[in-house]
Amino acid sequence: MKRNILSLACLAAVLFSCTCNDIIQDNVRNAEKQLASLIEASEANDTIRIPSTFKNGEIEFVPVDDWVSGFFAGTLWYMYELTGKEEYAVHAQKHTEVLHEIQFLKWHHDVGFMVYDSYGNGLRLKNIPGYDTVLVNTAKSLATRFRPNAGIIQSWNVVGDCWQAQRGWKCPVIIDNMMNLELLFKVSEMTGDPTYRNIAISHADKTMENHYREDMSTYHVVDYDDETGEVRRRCTAQGIADESRWARGQAWSIYGFTVAYRFTGDERYLDHAKKVAEYLLVNEDNMPEDMVPLWDFDAVEFAKVYPEYEKYVDQRDASSAAIIASALYELWWYTREELYIKSADKMIESLSKAPYRAEIGTNGGFILKHSVGSIPHGGNIDVPLNYADYYLLEALIRKRHIQNGEKPVE
Ligand code: GLY
Repeated sequence: MKRNILSLACLAAVLFSCTCNDIIQDNVRNAEKQLASLIEASEANDTIRIPSTFKNGEIEFVPVDDWVSGFFAGTLWYMYELTGKEEYAVHAQKHTEVLHEIQFLKWHHDVGFMVYDSYGNGLRLKNIPGYDTVLVNTAKSLATRFRPNAGIIQSWNVVGDCWQAQRGWKCPVIIDNMMNLELLFKVSEMTGDPTYRNIAISHADKTMENHYREDMSTYHVVDYDDETGEVRRRCTAQGIADESRWARGQAWSIYGFTVAYRFTGDERYLDHAKKVAEYLLVNEDNMPEDMVPLWDFDAVEFAKVYPEYEKYVDQRDASSAAIIASALYELWWYTREELYIKSADKMIESLSKAPYRAEIGTNGGFILKHSVGSIPHGGNIDVPLNYADYYLLEALIRKRHIQNGEKPVE
């Protein structure tokens, strides 16, 4: 009898493991087929271009200084990691090296995203000579945006008549900026120079202090006075309203503090990431059953106040689900909270099928449909986005490591 029960338990474990492997394998097979045309289009006529989205039947390509420019290179590195096929590394290297000038870019904060996804993954997977120097140079550029009196890295410049100036901002910091800290932590580790790590810690501490509401939802923008360090305003750029909860902001928030814990071991960051996750997964009434968030959790409520948003009340954001899932796999590793892994698995399950996963040969070669760039700016609404694909593949890699009993992130 006892032996029968044991055999049944083993069978259940094997079946569970096969199902998990199936979803990873199925996604990888799908991505291989789907990305082939996108790789071809982005390398046509021997010119490397950076695909960002697909709209009105056309793939859109972005310039090197766009905040999303590193994600396609990163997607190719992840395909190399998932398949072991050298051809992906060859494509990835080409798409990485067109980004070389980013290391000297100082006019916005997104260089952490751009270079860590591309050169960072290339360094980790292939140790390509010179990539370490690019990371160090980029960290130096990002460090020029540190405002010591406020203790934060300024996200956007406010110059002339730009839209940030029209809002009356002085030194805006967006929650997304937490994602640039990974580069700074890494470069301090690589070089032994604590400057970058100290900046990252200061930024994380100030963000923890100033970016959150009592319920642990995050504001999108906090505008600082960079001379006095005071908070001038808490508001939004990409959410429906200042007091609403823009979905991708909540996603960056879980991910960013989990990374801060990875590099520092500081329990305050872990505790913070857990509270943010708990808030989203337990207390958030507006999380749909398939766990692919609305673009803004308060879209329905605030559309009553701002009728121009009524047509978007059902709009989901697949990119948020992919980012949250990836973050939750790492958070699970540190906490072993079942809720995190179950929620991440549910998100991956939803993204692995219609309506989110595109049919092969459609969607311009991007894997996922139904993401949102910025509704208030009227840009990239209900389209594929290269970062949704990137974080989906990252989540699959993390899931595979967990199944193998390994830490999901090196
Ligand atoms: N970091 C910009 C965005 O999430 O849209």
